[in-house]
Amino acid sequence: MSDNGPALGNEIFITGCAQLLTLRGSVPRRGRAMNRIEIIRDGALLVADGRILAVGPRRDVARHKVARGARKVELGGKVVLPGFVDSHTHLVFPSSRADEHVRRCAGETYEEIARAGGGILSSVRGLRATKPAQLESRALQSLRRFAEHGTTTVEAKSGYGLDTASELKTLRLHRKLAKEQPLDIVSTFMGAHVVPPEYRKRRAGADAYVKFLAEHLIPQVAGEGLAEFCDVFCDRGAFTVKQARAVLTAGRVCGLVPRIHAEQLAHTGAARLAVELRAASADHLEYVNASEIRALASSDVVATLLPGCGAHLGHTHHAPARRLIEAGAIVALATDYNPGTSPTLSMSMVLSLATSQLRMTPAEAITASTINAAYSLGRQDGIGSLEVGKLADLSVFDVADYREIPYYFGVNLCVLTIKRGKVIYSRAGVNKI
Ligand code: NIG
Ligand code: FE
Repeated sequence: MSDNGPALGNEIFITGCAQLLTLRGSVPRRGRAMNRIEIIRDGALLVADGRILAVGPRRDVARHKVARGARKVELGGKVVLPGFVDSHTHLVFPSSRADEHVRRCAGETYEEIARAGGGILSSVRGLRATKPAQLESRALQSLRRFAEHGTTTVEAKSGYGLDTASELKTLRLHRKLAKEQPLDIVSTFMGAHVVPPEYRKRRAGADAYVKFLAEHLIPQVAGEGLAEFCDVFCDRGAFTVKQARAVLTAGRVCGLVPRIHAEQLAHTGAARLAVELRAASADHLEYVNASEIRALASSDVVATLLPGCGAHLGHTHHAPARRLIEAGAIVALATDYNPGTSPTLSMSMVLSLATSQLRMTPAEAITASTINAAYSLGRQDGIGSLEVGKLADLSVFDVADYREIPYYFGVNLCVLTIKRGKVIYSRAGVNKI
């Protein structure tokens, strides 16, 4: 995305924010504090060199000496919040799996389709056969759409390659995209997505693949600095807790911080493993039990909920968001953008699902998709809230009240997205900037 839209001058005075949600305060947010989004009415922001120089009520910020010479952006009464931090995506994939969606509509389940050789393995066949340039143009299109929906940081997992060449192809693409387009990309190695086809033919093939990851691919990925995190799909039909422990421990030894897909399809004990390994995040958690909720709550592992999956797959058993929040867990929300279970990149759609299906309040959902998500990526000092010294990453919604963002579900009301002080998306006619 080299054409990032109209470039603003170095210093910008953003005003006319009917509600400016700063999210300043304690990090990470737990329990009742998740409702604290710190709204400034008639707020303004002053940005210089891509960072926030001042933030507060319009009259106070206008008095700042830099405000006078800065380029003014008058929003005319919109809602401004930190750019969304989408802390769980499978950004790079070769094509849609709309055919599987149709099969599910006709009654087949996600796991049945996977057992029949579809699912993740179908994306693996596609990715292996797809040239980097083609993967890149699809990923760039996705990233432009993330920006259109108000997202300014995206975590991206590999895991549709499952062999050395194809995993490295994906991870090198993460690195290229991070350099060549404006959104921040946080790279995660997920070689342990499922057991690849060539290992399925062998006896104890899954263990042999885990050994290959631990002894060969992980050291290579870490050695080339291609990922910050290591993730495992620890669930029925994928990897066991024992195998996940082996992969994540090998990652940790090489400096990759663990994350884990846990308790999505069945209860396995993966959430407890996340606590044991002090993972950055345990994601999904539909089948987490009461004692695991307590264990997560007394840990620093972020519980990342992904309601797009349940909605797309038609599952009605939801993650226990209320119980997690009330127990004091650090709750985050993400899209899980991927072609199999959650082909959405709209965080406002995720907010709608989190409020209506998981019974989170709009304020909790915004905290979960900004500052708590930033914390799960270890980026809480730079992003996730609008505070002096942090990056000027923000999204502007054409609503009068932030609660209307989840309320108008399925409608993209984001009209302006700014990343490091630069406009990366502006809906035609918005402020003519
Ligand atoms: O987060 N659960 C594992 N991984 C993805 C699904 C990937 C796919 O079906 O392609 C998820 O739901
Ligand atoms: Fe996922």
